[in-house]
Amino acid sequence: DRRADLVVVANRLPVDKVTDPDGDSEWRRSPGGLVTALEPVMRRADGAWVGWPGQPDIEVEPFEFEGTHLVPVSLSADEVENYYEGMSNDTFWPLYHDVISPPRYRRVWWDAYVRVNRRFAEAAASVAAEGATVWVQDYQLQLVPAMLREARPDLTIGYFHHIPFPAYGLYSQLPWRRQVLEGLLGADVIGFQRVADAGNFARAVRRQLRYQTKATGITVPLPDGTSRNALAKAFPISIDASSYIELAERPDIIARAAEIRESLGNPKKILLGVDRLDYTKGIRHRLKAFGELLEDGRVKVEDVTLVQVASPSRERVDAYMQLRDEIELTVGRINGDHDTMGHTAIRYLHQAYPREEMVALFLAADVMLVTALRDGMNLVAKEYVATRTDNRGVLVLSEFAGAADELPSAIRINPHDIGGMKEAIMRAIEMPAAEQGRRMRALRKKVLENDVDRWSRSFLDALEEARRAKKRGR
Ligand code: G6P
Repeated sequence: DRRADLVVVANRLPVDKVTDPDGDSEWRRSPGGLVTALEPVMRRADGAWVGWPGQPDIEVEPFEFEGTHLVPVSLSADEVENYYEGMSNDTFWPLYHDVISPPRYRRVWWDAYVRVNRRFAEAAASVAAEGATVWVQDYQLQLVPAMLREARPDLTIGYFHHIPFPAYGLYSQLPWRRQVLEGLLGADVIGFQRVADAGNFARAVRRQLRYQTKATGITVPLPDGTSRNALAKAFPISIDASSYIELAERPDIIARAAEIRESLGNPKKILLGVDRLDYTKGIRHRLKAFGELLEDGRVKVEDVTLVQVASPSRERVDAYMQLRDEIELTVGRINGDHDTMGHTAIRYLHQAYPREEMVALFLAADVMLVTALRDGMNLVAKEYVATRTDNRGVLVLSEFAGAADELPSAIRINPHDIGGMKEAIMRAIEMPAAEQGRRMRALRKKVLENDVDRWSRSFLDALEEARRAKKRGR
């Protein structure tokens, strides 16, 4: 019966169950950024991680994995449908990304969301040691902080919101807007990607709950007439930059990058897009701009290839199925109109790749296109920058991605402005080496200074400060 001083609570466990054709299965560390980020922290703290094993209807007992105690929360097929696909990814996800796709508000989804959040809170409460720190992750679990505080007032609770928090005009559509704010305010520290997200949250709290908000925190009134402080602040997430640099310097990966260029027919310029297949990423806008450049004759299929990796995501949610159809129709049309026997306009890959292959792609790409319509941070932008150890390559970056706040030396675009995006792509294609170097050096400085280690440290420091303030009786 293991108890931990540091507990992470996230929708997913940091491992995936991989089953081979013979039916044997094993757990493997998930490739995600958060998992890599927290691994050393968990190891040092001898921590526990509460999360869903990623498949419906599997019951798994808690187990140890590479220095972390894993506590699985199992979800039935019904719960996956209502809590994960429904409320999390068909309500919160589109609402928080500025209703790019219309959110659906269904009471059965909300009921499942409340129930499942309670189960996560209970699992965390039973694994947390006396006075432990619990760090809740992301929009799937917004009610957990308050549920946990109620069960375990001794804990110090943090919550980090990995996606945007919308303006109040949009947020107020949510039928359960009050409950969600109260859920989040159960945390001592509520972290956001951008200053603007923290501002939107504070405004929602003022308008909806009428609580007082100051730079030092939000005053949360308690039933006994006193109050407590909750800090809402920006902690922009990052990547493990040094591990990307290591990969970028590996001879086999450098050779693989040359092989990729070769296999595309050694075009003069390779443009690259890497995204989960999601409507927030602006993939259609990017394809439109590129298609028009070919149509206008400003880029030639012999000279320029766009590689678009769109990794499968949330494939049972309608909006994602529709988007996939639209993208694949568009890619087929553009390629049909412009391909020659030896050259393709767009090399489209609906697949997920290991990190090594991604780094080879980054090294092969002259221009990285990040054209999100709305994105909490966008770590792909930072990964590309980290791997460009020769200070070459151009990042085209949407101002609607959180990363834009930290990376002003990218070529900034508004993805809704197709004309502007076309000019930006041409500028990137034609950019002289000296200017590439100037910009890339500035970008790399930011990403290397502000890596994910600094992110987790500064969040945990803020939590530690909250704990001390509580002890002092503030
Ligand atoms: C975003 C969210 C994460 C989520 C990830 C993958 O980055 O902020 O919470 O885990 O997408 O999505 P999935 O639905 O497959 O977990």
